[in-house]
Amino acid sequence: MANYNSLPSPIAKRLEGKVALITGGASGIGAATVRFFVQHGAKVTIADIQDNLGTSLVQEIGTEHTIFVHCNVAIESDVQNCVDLTIAKFGKLNIMFSNAGIADKSISSILGVDYNAIKNVFDVNVAGAFFCAKHAARVMIPAKIKGSIILTASAATVVYGLVPHAYAASKSAVLGLSKNIGVELGKYGIKVNCVSPHYIGTPLTLNALGIAERETAEKWFAEGGSLKEALLDEEEVAKAVLYLASDDSKYVSGINLVIDGGYSTTNVALAEAYKKLFPSVTTNEAM
Ligand SMILES: NC(=O)c1ccc[n+]([C@@H]2O[C@H](COP(=O)([O-])OP(=O)(O)OC[C@H]3O[C@@H](n4cnc5c(N)ncnc54)[C@H](O)[C@@H]3O)[C@@H](O)[C@H]2O)c1
Repeated sequence: MANYNSLPSPIAKRLEGKVALITGGASGIGAATVRFFVQHGAKVTIADIQDNLGTSLVQEIGTEHTIFVHCNVAIESDVQNCVDLTIAKFGKLNIMFSNAGIADKSISSILGVDYNAIKNVFDVNVAGAFFCAKHAARVMIPAKIKGSIILTASAATVVYGLVPHAYAASKSAVLGLSKNIGVELGKYGIKVNCVSPHYIGTPLTLNALGIAERETAEKWFAEGGSLKEALLDEEEVAKAVLYLASDDSKYVSGINLVIDGGYSTTNVALAEAYKKLFPSVTTNEAM
């Protein structure tokens, strides 16, 4: 008979003894994941270009659990240095969360796109992801760490037309990268996955949308969302990242974990057009 007294506590620490590096860790999804990982027993390097936010997060959490390293992910030597400082401080690297990202200004037409807009977004979102994966693998492989590399892509990898072109293209590139390196690194027992959130009112999103108040943006996301009575926030993404980082996902590699409340499974354009064109005709409940 099963001994239910031996079931783990629901708040069991799922990253005890693990070391993580989180880029874009000073704000938004990254900062929420830093806090959550530490609660789950991990030591965490916070890598970011926002030194003030990064150092105050370390002060909040404590220097025994976290360090802050100034790191521009678009510069390979910064990423290399950050990984090396993590090894020097915590002895190893189990989890790389490549999460830093930027959005281009909302250029809605391909005619308005120029090389600088593409280059900036691709340098951070794509080259940054390459460097993070490369330097994680550089230290994980010789140490025989069966690690986890997680890259933040976006719901823009599964539904199109909502974000600027360079951003959409960069996130699809991140997804392709994760699947390709997952094949290579699988032979070392290193799993590679993407997490792909829908809109959250972080500074990145508010700046890109030109909306000042988070509440205003959230009203819009709630109204347009598919799953009602629920709103995505940074902590929900951190929970998904924890799953991909922990041994709970031991055999999970090569997935794109989309967190969008089912938004990408719907297309209400026809139903909306019907209501607009034929307002007096009753439509099917599902529409
Ligand atoms: N918020 C959303 O709606 C949403 C949706 C899908 C995907 N994402 C992705 O989530 C990730 C995190 O964004 P967020 O929403 O938490 O925004 P955020 O603005 O709160 O955080 C982004 C962080 O990345 C850092 N950063 C930017 N450029 C950097 C660089 N060159 N090197 C190192 N750090 C850099 C910023 O300083 C900031 O701390 C991004 O990759 C973003 O594209 C966000």
